[in-house]
Amino acid sequence: MSNQINAGIISIGSAVPDRVLTNADLEKMVDTSDEWIRNMTGILERRIAAEGEATSDYAIRAGRIAMERAGLGPEDIDLIILATFTGDTPLPATACVVQNALGCKGTPAFDLAAGCSGWAYALATANAYVTCGVYEHVLVIGADLLSRVTDWTDRATCILFGDAGGAAVVGPVEPGYGFLAFELGADGSGAHSLSISAGGSKRPCTPEALANHEDKIYMEGREVFKFAVKIQGEACERVLAKVGMKPEDVDLIVPHQANIRIIDSAAQRLHLPPEKIYVNLQKYGNTSAASIPVAMEEAWSEGRIKKGDIIVAVGFGAGLTWAAGVMKWAY
Ligand code: ACO
Repeated sequence: MSNQINAGIISIGSAVPDRVLTNADLEKMVDTSDEWIRNMTGILERRIAAEGEATSDYAIRAGRIAMERAGLGPEDIDLIILATFTGDTPLPATACVVQNALGCKGTPAFDLAAGCSGWAYALATANAYVTCGVYEHVLVIGADLLSRVTDWTDRATCILFGDAGGAAVVGPVEPGYGFLAFELGADGSGAHSLSISAGGSKRPCTPEALANHEDKIYMEGREVFKFAVKIQGEACERVLAKVGMKPEDVDLIVPHQANIRIIDSAAQRLHLPPEKIYVNLQKYGNTSAASIPVAMEEAWSEGRIKKGDIIVAVGFGAGLTWAAGVMKWAY
């Protein structure tokens, strides 16, 4: 065990579009109100990518910042993992587009699909590669342009989503720091409750499918809400139990930014005060795989995450999936 390599986040970056879509803007698009959206979700505005932009644009920007902050060049990156379900195209993996743009010649690159849990799943994957010595530095990106798969006529979902990218470099850290444990899970019996039914091998994008908006996100909001409330708290408790910690040992929880009511219920279950849970969903809405790294970058920039802090990242999403990681911040 003495040769065990400790892996952790050694830098973090993020990128969001300039264009802001407010609740007032949405009032003009669907039958909704600023008051309903605020009360039911906590979201005030979200960012929308410009026409012609793609998920890779935000993955590249966030990835480049993370590499610069780690002081690493393209030749230092040994693997790129991009968590997304809104890749530029179905083929090839968008991670390869990112790899080329970042100048990481020959570096292996793949996409990872786990919905909003994707970035936390990707952290766990990177941790496995680094701790076993296969790769030294892994660029772990989460990026999604949910605006491209949002049904802008469906008031129950279009108010929730936004576009963004976030990235971290995972690499070796000093003993005792970095990732302490992960808790990943999936329940495929809930696959239907959060899905895009057309555009895959089961149902191609026929004119009929497009007319029915089957190429857009379908969500059983109530079901996903119940699942999220239960799993967010549970996943935190389980990952902390793995390392003999309790919620009160945590300095900051960085949860998936889906809905303030989901975050508040997890805080109550864990008996944690609001200042121990980072929230920025009011500005960005739910940005899927980008949500946790964007929030983590902001928390770090604000000085809310410092070396030695115990941080928990926790996400849930389509699959249904969930993922939590506990780490001792390494820099
Ligand atoms: N404005 C006004 N009224 C609305 C709106 C809206 N935008 N949307 C729905 N309503 C109405 C409904 O029509 C319904 O009216 P009715 O009672 O007359 O039928 C009423 O509000 C309540 O609707 P519900 O859908 O039952 O409301 P709920 O309390 O479930 O809240 C919400 C809806 C906010 C979407 C909630 O279900 C939620 O947050 N779910 C989880 C979403 C989530 O976290 N998704 C994660 C995605 S992760 C990924 O991988 C992409």
